[in-house]
Amino acid sequence: ATLRAFAPVVATRFPLVGDVWVTTTYETTAQVLKDGTTFTLRKEDGEVAGLRWWMPKLVTTIANNMLTMDEPDHTRLRSIVDEAFRRRAIVAMEPRIRAIADDLAADLFAGGSPADLVQRYARILPLSVICELLGLPAADRPRFIAWANSMAGLTNVFGFFRMLFAFSRMRRYLEEQLRVARAQGGEGLIAELVQVEREGGRITPSEMVSMVFLLLAAGSETTTHLISGSVYELLKSPRLRDWLEEDWSRVGLAVEEFLRFVSPVQFSKPRYVRRDVELAGVRLKKGDRVMVMLAAANMDPGEHEEVERLDLARKPNRHISFGTGIHFCLGHQLARIEAACALQALLTRWPKLGLAIDPSQIRWRKRPGIRAIEKLPVVA
Ligand code: HEM
Repeated sequence: ATLRAFAPVVATRFPLVGDVWVTTTYETTAQVLKDGTTFTLRKEDGEVAGLRWWMPKLVTTIANNMLTMDEPDHTRLRSIVDEAFRRRAIVAMEPRIRAIADDLAADLFAGGSPADLVQRYARILPLSVICELLGLPAADRPRFIAWANSMAGLTNVFGFFRMLFAFSRMRRYLEEQLRVARAQGGEGLIAELVQVEREGGRITPSEMVSMVFLLLAAGSETTTHLISGSVYELLKSPRLRDWLEEDWSRVGLAVEEFLRFVSPVQFSKPRYVRRDVELAGVRLKKGDRVMVMLAAANMDPGEHEEVERLDLARKPNRHISFGTGIHFCLGHQLARIEAACALQALLTRWPKLGLAIDPSQIRWRKRPGIRAIEKLPVVA
């Protein structure tokens, strides 16, 4: 809101990124994301906007995925996995997602009370679902949780090296999984990728690793924080919780508002400005970079009424939490269903669930980009 008072797009310096423009309104945010020709993820020479020269090769290789690509490479890669994330495919997974959520809810206090809802529930559910979808062995789940935790700890130099170590182990693990799928086939998306590779030409071996890495990372961390952020809000407000529990068919509507209000992805990757352009009256030069502030767009009073109010019945709700344009979130259907199942399973299983500490004592993660609760201690 402070930046928005200055202009719809503001020049600033951003941690790890450097000098960039940031969008502060819904309109400028959507405009940048929708114009993938003027605002690109790569420079003419192929350099990725969010990466810096000093970042290790491991990071740049892993980042070689659809989310860092412009057309036509973006569509070449996205079209390979689009089908698996279509509404019909995801709705067919709903009973399984519900069953996983029920089991995890039943197990919430198995390690004692209070339980940390982030680690024992919100983190495990999306990871379990995406692993099943990919065809990764359930027995390996603890590894993914450890990796996800080390990536979440990226708040200082020590955290950065820990994350690199986790990246490198994860890459080796995924290469091994791909090798097994090439030799023996199998179920799930990894086996399907191998099939596409066999048919020739559409994906390179290194892009396959990056693709699986992206699906694992994008498919878990974001949804974890949507779930924990939503539970936090509901446990703070008995009125909202009663409204939801009165009629669970409202959960889809509520999830949309949680997406707006929590805005798990606060801003997206920086884009390069490919030609001199005017954005809401502000002149941007070729070679500049822009970061789109999804969270600012979701809180723009020019677009939504009473932005600060968590209104679970809000309709219409034109939040932009999944982005827009060609990079619109591939997993949006999955995330929506996971969050709905997670809330219903949890609150049905534990009708007296409450926060174990005062809401003001909840710690938020310091790392910019993802809005994340570190720990959410709950009691039944
Ligand atoms: C892209 C948000 C869940 C996979 C994106 C983008 C956003 C986003 C904002 C666009 C980024 C940009 O334009 O720079 C979210 C949120 C989620 C969520 C808030 C949960 C609450 C998921 C899930 C998956 C997923 C469950 C499952 C695999 C992806 C992929 C992309 C993407 C692959 C890149 C798409 C492309 O480049 O075409 N997501 N996401 N996301 N998301 Fe999600």
